[in-house]
Amino acid sequence: MIKIAIVGTGGMANVHAENFKSQDGVQVVAGCDIDETRVRAFCTRHGISQHYTDFATLLAQSGCDAVAVVTPDATHAPLTLQALAAGKHVFCEKPLATNVADAQKMVDAARSSGLINMVNLSYRNSSAWQRLLQMSVAGDLGVIRHVQAHYLQSWLTSKDWGDWKTSPNWLWRLSSAHGSKGALGDIGVHILDFATMPVGKVSSLFCKLQTFEKAPGNTMGEYTLDANDSAMVIMEFTNGALGSVAVTRVATGHKNSLFLTVYGDKAAVRIDLDASYELMDICRIGHDGCNQPWERVYCPKTPNNYVRFIESIRSGINQQADFERGAEVQKLMDACEASNALCAVVAL
Ligand SMILES: NC(=O)c1ccc[n+]([C@@H]2O[C@H](COP(=O)([O-])OP(=O)(O)OC[C@H]3O[C@@H](n4cnc5c(N)ncnc54)[C@H](O)[C@@H]3O)[C@@H](O)[C@H]2O)c1
Repeated sequence: MIKIAIVGTGGMANVHAENFKSQDGVQVVAGCDIDETRVRAFCTRHGISQHYTDFATLLAQSGCDAVAVVTPDATHAPLTLQALAAGKHVFCEKPLATNVADAQKMVDAARSSGLINMVNLSYRNSSAWQRLLQMSVAGDLGVIRHVQAHYLQSWLTSKDWGDWKTSPNWLWRLSSAHGSKGALGDIGVHILDFATMPVGKVSSLFCKLQTFEKAPGNTMGEYTLDANDSAMVIMEFTNGALGSVAVTRVATGHKNSLFLTVYGDKAAVRIDLDASYELMDICRIGHDGCNQPWERVYCPKTPNNYVRFIESIRSGINQQADFERGAEVQKLMDACEASNALCAVVAL
């Protein structure tokens, strides 16, 4: 039996609890949150026997083998380092950290401990994306010269996910003092991983971040609404390929949409997660040298991150996406912030 503890028992923790509990030979043994009412309700809801408000006590007493870190972004690094020091495998929410120095400390600690480490880049659960990655590695797309990706949400312009003005779980995402890196850190992390992994290393980028006026003085109670709401990134890869990534919370009409198109000189692949996690569209260059009609391809489901984390613990072989990849994406996000501040292209 693999025993999991979950730290941070807000919205996303429910997804973790369901995905771990549903696996054979896995038990969620403890929950921890600084809010006692919340952790009690969470543990009752999921039939978890132990609840804690102090993480050190959980690590010492719960008997867990692994910890899922599901707290606001700025707490990922300290909680993960504490868990690794206590000999626990760690499944950490994204973004891995809020800067590359902290992310690198997490990589180093995980490496020297030999413990399993994964970052929950959850759109890797798309089997279409996994197939795209395989095709890219195998050279099936030929030389990739162009990539385009969008991650579009609308929770600042719609109430589909509740009213952000009265919901602490949305308000902290708007405030750097509450540990947020804005839309770039929240959803940019996913799409930067999604767009760059099949293409290769980024050599330089330009980024523009935008924070919109959302309240008088951009303040609501204890929250200063200073985190970015939109980001546009233009990237150059080491092979000269160019890429563009758009990220926003104000895309009316899009609740949670990810689009990716990768163009190689042998084939292009298009993925639209609104349509399906298991479908991709492919256009190949035919024997006549012409674009063949776009073809829809079904990619059978692949294990999700929660399953791959448990498989990694069982086998001792760390599956994707590990902390090293989390730190690579963090480096891109730090470069985006630097580029925005300098209004200049930044080399990586
Ligand atoms: N992978 C994904 O697709 C995905 C989706 C949603 C959220 N997330 C990530 O999950 C994390 C949590 O997001 P959420 O939507 O559940 O937020 P949330 O605000 O609903 O929950 C966060 C919880 O953490 C608790 N907390 C804060 N600091 C703590 C600490 N030091 N120790 C223990 N508990 C602490 C809060 O009291 C709260 O209950 C974020 O990092 C977010 O980026 C990932």
